[in-house]
Amino acid sequence: MTTATAAAMTTRPAIILDCDPGHDDAVAMLLAARHCELLAVTTVSGNAPLHLTTQNALLVCQLAGLDMPVHAGADRPLLVSAAHAPRAHGRTGLDGPVRPDVHRTVASNDAVGCIIETVRARDGVWIVAVGPLTNVALAIRQAPDIVDRLAGISLMGGGAGPGNVTPTAEFNIWADPHAAQIVFAAGVPRLLMAGLHLTHQLCVGPEVIAALRAGGGTVAGFVAELFDFYVAGYRERAGLDAAPLHDPCAVLALTHPELLGFAARRVEVETTGVLTRGMTVVDERPGADGTPNCDVAYGIDADAAAELIVDAVCSYR
Ligand code: RIB
Ligand code: CA
Repeated sequence: MTTATAAAMTTRPAIILDCDPGHDDAVAMLLAARHCELLAVTTVSGNAPLHLTTQNALLVCQLAGLDMPVHAGADRPLLVSAAHAPRAHGRTGLDGPVRPDVHRTVASNDAVGCIIETVRARDGVWIVAVGPLTNVALAIRQAPDIVDRLAGISLMGGGAGPGNVTPTAEFNIWADPHAAQIVFAAGVPRLLMAGLHLTHQLCVGPEVIAALRAGGGTVAGFVAELFDFYVAGYRERAGLDAAPLHDPCAVLALTHPELLGFAARRVEVETTGVLTRGMTVVDERPGADGTPNCDVAYGIDADAAAELIVDAVCSYR
């Protein structure tokens, strides 16, 4: 496996975080706010319906004192029916802790317009996408000029092995396969993929939860309670004592590429297969004929990544 440092070497990349909070999305927000210039958060239907993923993003911003704008986006996929993940994230999409009253409000209901205007307004912007890719695909379709203006897209989605929502597909890609196909085929300057084969190497368990509680602080305590719920679900469903922390991997792929190992691959998305809808077909053949369109992350220094995440979360009050 060739290892290439794939992401920008910018110390604080300017990003838009497109997400569907979601327990791991919430941690990705906190991590991104510490290590990126977080220009905006855009929300999409995914782990929960849009109104809940948006409320959850606002809740995290309010709790952590993050003042970047939150823009609500697509409430359904491009073509398939909306699907959610209550088994992993609960009815609210952020089950576990007692929810505080949320006073923060959205900056707009036009996440797609926010993405387009932000990318057009300055060079070097990255999109970190950790939910279904509906907003990103709509922005690319409405404003194809942003493809060449973007520095790149770092996404959590897909995988080079088994899926999680079907035997072959990961949730973010499966939830809107047509949007994912648009994004993977767009030809952005850099496309980083943190798939399940990578994210399952970064798991949160009792040690991380204890470190968060020891770190003190309201935010760390809130995240510890999020993880109590999240890990309990994996224990119940899969008999595991730790749960994969998917979304922060897409942030780290950009901010700490030295912790990951990448390989250039051609990746395409299946949109019509009865058994394979939403599968990311990663061409791993030696001398594959297609031109690589993606830097696929295959390895991660999980201990260093977990330490970075705990430090970032504990850095809030
Ligand atoms: O399959 C994992 C992905 O689906 C993560 O982004 C998680 O938040 C859910 O959206
Ligand atoms: Ca997510």
